[in-house]
Amino acid sequence: MRTITIDEAPRFVGEEVTVRGWLYNKRSSGKILFLQVRDGTGVIQGVLSEPDSSPSLFADADRLNRESSLIVTGVLHEDHRAPGGCELQIKDITVVQEPTDPFPIELKEHTPGFLMDHRHLWMRTGRQVPILRIRDTVFRAVRDFFHRRGFVATEAPILTGTSVEGTTTLFEVDYFGEKAYLTQSGQLYLEATAMALGKVYWIGPVFRAEKSKTRKHLTEFWMAEAEMAYYDYADNNRLQEELIAYIVGAAVAERKQELDLLKRDTEKLLEEVSLPFPRVDYADAIKLLQEAGHEVSFGDDFGAPHEVTLGEHFRKPVFIERFPVSMKPFYMKRDPSEQSRVLAADLIAPEGYGELIGGSQRVDTLEELSAQLKERHLPSEPYEWYLDLRRYGSVPHSGFGLGMARTIAWICGVPHIRETIPFARQLNRLYP
Ligand code: 4AD
Ligand code: MG
Repeated sequence: MRTITIDEAPRFVGEEVTVRGWLYNKRSSGKILFLQVRDGTGVIQGVLSEPDSSPSLFADADRLNRESSLIVTGVLHEDHRAPGGCELQIKDITVVQEPTDPFPIELKEHTPGFLMDHRHLWMRTGRQVPILRIRDTVFRAVRDFFHRRGFVATEAPILTGTSVEGTTTLFEVDYFGEKAYLTQSGQLYLEATAMALGKVYWIGPVFRAEKSKTRKHLTEFWMAEAEMAYYDYADNNRLQEELIAYIVGAAVAERKQELDLLKRDTEKLLEEVSLPFPRVDYADAIKLLQEAGHEVSFGDDFGAPHEVTLGEHFRKPVFIERFPVSMKPFYMKRDPSEQSRVLAADLIAPEGYGELIGGSQRVDTLEELSAQLKERHLPSEPYEWYLDLRRYGSVPHSGFGLGMARTIAWICGVPHIRETIPFARQLNRLYP
């Protein structure tokens, strides 16, 4: 007998197969039992009719509770009404374990707090499985993209002695009596690695002690970061838009069924990633927002309502570029044509999903870097190694960081990024 996964079922219509999984849901209609079985690759409907099966099998199956773990054998039949296109006529069931209590997640509405408290069980249900499968595809697509372009995968340390993205969102750790921090971004280390290897990337966990409780902020999240020697500002932005188009293309090609389950409009998604993405000067973006009725002025950061307006206006990801120096971290190179601006762009998602990428050309001279550290009252000792990169064979270089959770939320069309990671860490959320 052949053991299959549920996503393989259409290939084995007419054959007897075994599926190993869990009882997702159960319905009965008179003398027929419908057992929906899930196994992580999909859900299949198993059918058991009282006249055709042994009375004990029917009675045993009728007693089963949701999330009983089961090994089910039966014959696959084509059924166009069934999701996945087939149904399993059940011949035998082996129960691996019967739950000790009723499964807490009912297939109806629960409050977000309840669901997040039961995240370890919630993830088995509804749209959570397709979202996590799409997450897997997005991670793989990022790696494929970089490998095809000759990037070297590398790593940055999680425990660090310095801040990258400002000192207000650092998680402090006691490091044998010394102060250490959980990294906010691997960027500075990737800059060093790029000077050794040329073009590098990683997908790593990063940490921000964000006090904000929004649908776009986690305190621990995964970032795909890349750093390229000899790339200027324009090269950097081109690479970013190609990456985004590649990821979305891969997700739609490989996870169409999951995206359909989430009711995501994939046509719209593909239209949104047609290249190139618009590039809009920060000052023009502020003007555009003012004309749309927002109260913002030059020097302000964008909030959620501004990002929604930008999304509605451009209908695709948009680079907002050349920010005022004061808005951005110390490592960004100033625009030679306007010293009060940096060669940096944020890529803002359509549909209100917020900033997907932050990127810039980096400061590449010792004088400019020392001056910028001083200006921001950052001590130079912990950054000596980083200053060394400008002492020994410095070259123009650029890089960026892509927030994986926000990218996945946009691709899936789910409103809150807490659903795009197996176990979200947020303000007030350390359990489970
Ligand atoms: O814009 P950020 O802060 O950029 C950096 O950290 C750079 N050092 C990256 C680099 O150039 N290598 O963060 C990059 C991206 C944001 O655009 C956003 O998508 C995501 O990371 N991000 C968050 N995602 C979830 N929760 C948070 N609290 C996030 N903060 C940033
Ligand atoms: Mg940013």
